[in-house]
Amino acid sequence: MTETAIQFEHVRKSFGNEVVIPDLNFKINQGEFITILGSSGCGKTTTLKMVNGLLKPSAGKIMVNSQQISELDLVRLRRHTGYVVQQIGLFPHITVAENIAVVPRMLQWDQEAIKQRVDELLTLVQLAPAEYRDRYPKQLSGGQQQRVGVARALAANPPTVLFDEPFGALDALTREKLQEEIKQIHTALQGKTFLFVTHDINEALFLGQRVMVMKDGRIEQFATPTEIVSHPATNFVRELLGTVQQNQALWRDFND
Ligand SMILES: Nc1ncnc2c1ncn2[C@@H]1O[C@H](COP(=O)(O)OP(=O)(O)O)[C@@H](O)[C@H]1O
Ligand SMILES: [Mg+2]
Repeated sequence: MTETAIQFEHVRKSFGNEVVIPDLNFKINQGEFITILGSSGCGKTTTLKMVNGLLKPSAGKIMVNSQQISELDLVRLRRHTGYVVQQIGLFPHITVAENIAVVPRMLQWDQEAIKQRVDELLTLVQLAPAEYRDRYPKQLSGGQQQRVGVARALAANPPTVLFDEPFGALDALTREKLQEEIKQIHTALQGKTFLFVTHDINEALFLGQRVMVMKDGRIEQFATPTEIVSHPATNFVRELLGTVQQNQALWRDFND
């Protein structure tokens, strides 16, 4: 049976008088790779931050693994939710290994377990441990820093990982490579729920098992890439697809 990992019920979010998200409803199953696609300012980051409690909904209910977020300990929730952002914010004065180990340390894992986990994660994100564990962030390329960011987010084995345009600042080739890798990582880890925000339709269709298309804080369509491409639900989705119709080759293989 599929378990619901994340559920929004009549979620509303306003900042002062501005209603950014009027009434958001969706369910995400455990283990799904979901992409959220929409233009700048449509409420993607706000949605993501409500999942890990960085922002509180103004109204409505958010459930994570059948528990209402408002009743959870937020520090605990955040430690059990990986978070990868564009400005990855590695700590500059500590090594790659120490950056990855931040959460396991807070959780007081023993030294040997931490060391093992760091090497395992570096391998997973395709950075040779011997070569990279003792480097400092400034000794890495942008793509390598994002890889460390992904490793850090996965460190304490969280069931849910949130990605907010993590590859947005990278060049096209590095970005494509990381897209391939993140997809493989999701498959390899089995059962983890990935929620990945992007404004890039190619990225959204390539990565998402289902894609949530947002506009002005509302869902225009939430469906598989194939469904979205073959049956766009609204004019907005149709227009969005129109912008890349010439680039079909870029969509590569869909997930379903
Ligand atoms: N802390 C905040 N205070 C006031 N307005 C905000 C705040 N955060 C986001 N907004 C507004 O909410 C809207 C959605 O923002 P955001 O979720 O960051 O969009 P996206 O990530 O899709 O670009 C924007 O109009 C933005 O200006
Ligand atoms: Mg954003």
